[in-house]
Amino acid sequence: MIQIAVLGFGTVGSGVVELIDKNQDAIRARFPEGVHVKYILDIREFPGSPYADRVVHDMNVILEDPEVSIVCETMGGKEPAHTFSRSALERGKSVCTSNKELVAAFGPELIRTAREHNCSYLFEASVGGGIPVIRPLLSALTQEKITSILGILNGTTNYIMTRMEDEGMDFDEVLKIAQEKGYAERNPEADVEGHDACRKIAILSSLVAGKTVRYEDIPCEGISKITTEDMKYARSMNMAVRLLGMNRQEEDGSLYVRTAPFLVPEEHPLHSVSGVFNAVFIHGNMVDNLMFYGRGAGKLPTASAVVADVMDCARNIGRNIPIYWSDEVKTLADPSTESRQFFVRVDISEKELARTLFKGAQEVRAEGMEGEFAFVTEEQTEAEFDRKTRSLATLKNRIRLLDLGK
Ligand SMILES: NC(=O)c1ccc[n+]([C@@H]2O[C@H](COP(=O)([O-])OP(=O)(O)OC[C@H]3O[C@@H](n4cnc5c(N)ncnc54)[C@H](OP(=O)(O)O)[C@@H]3O)[C@@H](O)[C@H]2O)c1
Repeated sequence: MIQIAVLGFGTVGSGVVELIDKNQDAIRARFPEGVHVKYILDIREFPGSPYADRVVHDMNVILEDPEVSIVCETMGGKEPAHTFSRSALERGKSVCTSNKELVAAFGPELIRTAREHNCSYLFEASVGGGIPVIRPLLSALTQEKITSILGILNGTTNYIMTRMEDEGMDFDEVLKIAQEKGYAERNPEADVEGHDACRKIAILSSLVAGKTVRYEDIPCEGISKITTEDMKYARSMNMAVRLLGMNRQEEDGSLYVRTAPFLVPEEHPLHSVSGVFNAVFIHGNMVDNLMFYGRGAGKLPTASAVVADVMDCARNIGRNIPIYWSDEVKTLADPSTESRQFFVRVDISEKELARTLFKGAQEVRAEGMEGEFAFVTEEQTEAEFDRKTRSLATLKNRIRLLDLGK
């Protein structure tokens, strides 16, 4: 029997314990030895829980028990999760985590520590919750040149965008509902300002590059400036606004990575990804398009991804499962040189100026929208676009368009 410990008995951690209990038959069918949760580390006691007798408060109990060979880190945050994970790896205990903040910040260091101690550091649940996307990237797609990744990587923001779109509610109203339903944190900044999605596209980009794509180097915009008016125009163009994590490898080798809201045309599969669902759309130069879709968060879907890693580690006790992600920092292309079309809204008084600045712009109309001029520009670089919009005093909003061909 493989003995494991779970660090943090919150949403994901309690899901891991429950899943291992409920699916023990399924686990044993493929891994007859079975997996057992020996310890649960948390700050609190859990009186009345069927697992109360396994709760410990001292990490050393886990570190010093030679029977524990796998640790699930589902505490979140950087510390003490970082110290606990490193200490476990240094003792040859594999670590499986859902903590994207930690993976984005310390991934290569923890991967190297695991390699040096013949154990593994796996993090399937850190991107896309229950969606298996890291494993396919690391196994089924290693023969491919991945030319682009487009991801709806945050369920909270996708829920907000979808409800604004479907019901005409404004951002603050939907955010409040999302918080009441438990989809959004009380402090929603990491989600709505795009930081969470940015960490996830940084992780995927690093895995594709084999080097570190620092999330601090990725231009990051959230959804807090998207309005119901933008949604009306989006609908009139048969597009949907989606917060995307984007990775684009040009033929000359330049790599663009960005997190921002995009207008997604109806023809693109990401257009129909709604509510709390997530999806990752990958293009490989040989396999063409692939899409991974599912629940990007939630207790049991996320636990499922953590336990998938546990099963991999259980089959490889005493061996390292290799992950190619080095400390070397991958230099990203200058984001201002990336080119695309933009959707823009200005006051009607600047219609002529906008037409002069953006030659070839296509006007967009939407029901009930008076007193402003909305248009889609021709393709141009981000730098060129920024330079032109600096001359517009009444800019209401601008949203990038997803190019179907890229
Ligand atoms: N929830 C999801 O759907 C989801 C999906 C994908 C990834 N994740 C990631 O998974 C991680 C865990 O998320 P979660 O939603 O399960 O969080 P959570 O519900 O807050 O659970 C974290 C648990 O860890 C405990 N904890 C915190 N610091 C600790 C410490 N120093 N020692 C022992 N226990 C400690 C917490 O105790 P207290 O409650 O007393 O603080 C809590 O019980 C995060 O990195 C999150 O981003 C979550």
